[in-house]
Amino acid sequence: MNFSFGFIFLCVGVALASEETYRAGVVTTHGEVNSYVPLIHEAGKLNVDILVLPSPQAPLSSMERTCEMDNYDELVETISSAAKEASLYVVAHLIEKTRCQNKNELVRSNLVFDREGNVVSVYRKPLTTVANCTTAPTNIGSFSTDFGVQFGLLMEEDLVLRKAEELDNFVVVGAWSSEVPFLSESQFASSWAFSNNVNLVSSFGIFAGNSGSEASAHSNVQIADLDKLGNKNQQIVPPVVNSLELKSSPAEDLSQYIIRPLDIAASTQGYKETVCHDGFCCEFYVKMGFDGPKEEVNYGLAAFDGVRHFDHTHNIGSQTCAVFACAGLYKRSCSLGSQNSTNVKFEKISITGNFTETIQYPIILTTGSKIEPEAFKMAANSKQVTLEVTNADNLLTFGVFGRDFSKDSKNFVLNDSGSIYDTINEEMTELFDYLWIRLRVVLIIASIYVLEML
Ligand SMILES: *[C@@H]1O[C@H](CO)[C@@H](O)[C@H](O)[C@H]1NC(C)=O
Ligand SMILES: *[C@@H]1O[C@H](CO)[C@@H](O)[C@H](O)[C@H]1NC(C)=O
Ligand SMILES: *[C@@H]1O[C@H](CO)[C@@H](O)[C@H](O)[C@H]1NC(C)=O
Ligand SMILES: *[C@@H]1O[C@H](CO)[C@@H](O)[C@H](O)[C@H]1NC(C)=O
Repeated sequence: MNFSFGFIFLCVGVALASEETYRAGVVTTHGEVNSYVPLIHEAGKLNVDILVLPSPQAPLSSMERTCEMDNYDELVETISSAAKEASLYVVAHLIEKTRCQNKNELVRSNLVFDREGNVVSVYRKPLTTVANCTTAPTNIGSFSTDFGVQFGLLMEEDLVLRKAEELDNFVVVGAWSSEVPFLSESQFASSWAFSNNVNLVSSFGIFAGNSGSEASAHSNVQIADLDKLGNKNQQIVPPVVNSLELKSSPAEDLSQYIIRPLDIAASTQGYKETVCHDGFCCEFYVKMGFDGPKEEVNYGLAAFDGVRHFDHTHNIGSQTCAVFACAGLYKRSCSLGSQNSTNVKFEKISITGNFTETIQYPIILTTGSKIEPEAFKMAANSKQVTLEVTNADNLLTFGVFGRDFSKDSKNFVLNDSGSIYDTINEEMTELFDYLWIRLRVVLIIASIYVLEML
């Protein structure tokens, strides 16, 4: 009798638990679609409800790899039967070549397969924005599952380009061309999940809102159990990314940023500084120390308010405040370096800005050091946002990346050679200032002379 009661309670307990959470999985190795089949089966054995396959790594900039795209139908077939055999949902990002107006056009598709292997959701976009083929892009999708969760289905770049819909769970696949420090894919996914506090299952990992990633690795599949109603975990874990993972990403052009070198001497005492880009100001408080002898380091305090390039094809409005390590500082520009660890310890960094919109993301890169949850704070008081960290080692970037969607539509073309012209302009301005002072002296002397002549 006791035994059976215990058994009933156990069953009820298991049923309740499985009603509140679902199991998400991500394949972590890149390869041909066929190589994912055994991993789909493995995920099935691990009771994964929904599995995300890796996205093709680099965005395909040209038609170079078109011959690989010919077998789209075959790949769909392969994934479909594997999903059916393993009885789980599978999300894949595939590239399809279509022929139109005597040209090849590449179309990117997010496909969702259900446990029967049926395609239940498709989200398509042409690879380039200039495509005008018969394959019309579809709207951002969402799909429901038999475990009672509705997912938003996005491509990676949508995280930056669009406001998040009102959902608790998202699946994100696809790729964009990463740039450090603010817009690299793997780092941005975790910041996005953090700021929106939603579950995000992506090729870059599984994130439970602002509680970070708790995925456990099983050979080539990472899995995590997520709350169906969104993140219920109270623990806030800052989205810190190891910069070594981003080493191959190019550095963003920072020539439009207003960057002031960090005053190392003053910062050992702790000091305040305000850096403004036009009307947008960032207030910094920095107190730093050294573990051991003082090293030669450069940090910049930066503010940006304007339009920037994103993923080659978009111009987006952004407002940014950040402290970052500079490999070299020249005038107002900072060249970001892939630095190794330093013995700099930031006892405190506090950054405050009055942002125009309400969507800001914390961007934190270190060379491997963790930041304890209690050492980190991000707070918003209407549109005034404050980001704080205490006792952080090996910090390369610490800042807030904010979006200003109102500026997205402006037709702004950033000229790649702009940085050079900026520098020249600045030098010219300084030259004129210098000449003007000289001239004024000459003019005054001349006028005194003229007066004396009278
Ligand atoms: C789009 O279509 C128009 C007319 O149908 C054509 O002139 C143009 O070249 C096409 N553009 C591309 C990129 O194929
Ligand atoms: C960083 O460390 C690696 C190996 O530890 C070394 O090869 C490299 O030269 C270092 N780079 C810098 C900039 O110190
Ligand atoms: C933000 O706005 C508040 C209130 O208007 C003002 O006191 C503060 O100085 C502003 N901060 C920045 C960084 O502009
Ligand atoms: C960028 O600036 C250079 C030099 O002024 C100019 O020749 C070029 O056309 C510009 N490119 C764009 C896209 O505006």
